[in-house]
Amino acid sequence: MKNILVIGATGQIGSELTMRLRREYPGGNVVAGYIKGAEPKGELLESGPAAEVDITDASMIADAVEKYDIDTIYNLAALLSAVAEAKPQLAWKIGVGGLYNCLEISREKNCALFTPSSIGSFGNNTPKKDTPQDTIQRPETIYGVTKVSGELLSDYYARRFGVDTRSVRFPGLISYVAPPGGGTTDYAVDIYYAAVKGDTFECPLKPGTFMDMMYMPDALRAAIEIMEADPSKLVHRNSFNIASMSFDPEIIYAKIKEYVPEFRMEYKLDPLRQQIADSWPDNLDDSCAREEWGWKPEYDLDGMTQDMLAHLRKKLFS
Ligand code: SER
Repeated sequence: MKNILVIGATGQIGSELTMRLRREYPGGNVVAGYIKGAEPKGELLESGPAAEVDITDASMIADAVEKYDIDTIYNLAALLSAVAEAKPQLAWKIGVGGLYNCLEISREKNCALFTPSSIGSFGNNTPKKDTPQDTIQRPETIYGVTKVSGELLSDYYARRFGVDTRSVRFPGLISYVAPPGGGTTDYAVDIYYAAVKGDTFECPLKPGTFMDMMYMPDALRAAIEIMEADPSKLVHRNSFNIASMSFDPEIIYAKIKEYVPEFRMEYKLDPLRQQIADSWPDNLDDSCAREEWGWKPEYDLDGMTQDMLAHLRKKLFS
């Protein structure tokens, strides 16, 4: 039996991961940890316990861990890259201060801890193509700085205190459920909404801007599989490159047009997002994840596009 606390349970990843974990571990408690103003609703609220857990307040995490006898924490609290540039102090407080709180509680209460890293943990001097698992990580964004700090701190707690910390570097995540907010890869979600609504899409990034992307079902599976992996096989822990597809705006536009021929896109560049995207890799080499815990994506751009369009049509029009 697993008793799991999801911190950030009403966010882009958390709202889907919490439901998936509840299906995966029906005998345990999967607690939806939320912050004031982002309370769980509907199915998320009705299908299991919820607790107010502000990651910057260690006592709130400790209370939930105590009350529900938690053995695993999914730490999904973060500000995404573009919004973090507007609020760098808060991004550090949540990304690193919050992680420190989770690590300390995990050390005291013997919890396993998952904290996602990102393609944003790389920077301009990282090899852009087939970015290796172990390479230069000198990001220029505060988002990236918190992610690299988090990787290092999590590995330190594993080595020094034996805390079972594990992580994957998520690409841009695409889903029809909860929208992302303030990320650099968000355009690849927004473009599907525009296509289904019949709007012309204003793309904030220029043609040729390649980034890794992933459909949410694969990302959720990765988050669960890494925590289930046999620890004796893990050479790495914080954090694994994972990948499934890499495209630029022209490629995703052309793919959507195969299914929505009347769809139109024009370019309206966002200089901040363009600068961030230019500093990130084009595509990651995920061979270590494949070798050490059997990672394998299921969705490619075509499969994801068909599924996104079908679900968004249902969500928006029925
Ligand atoms: N999706 C994130 C962002 O764009 C990257 O991990 O900020």
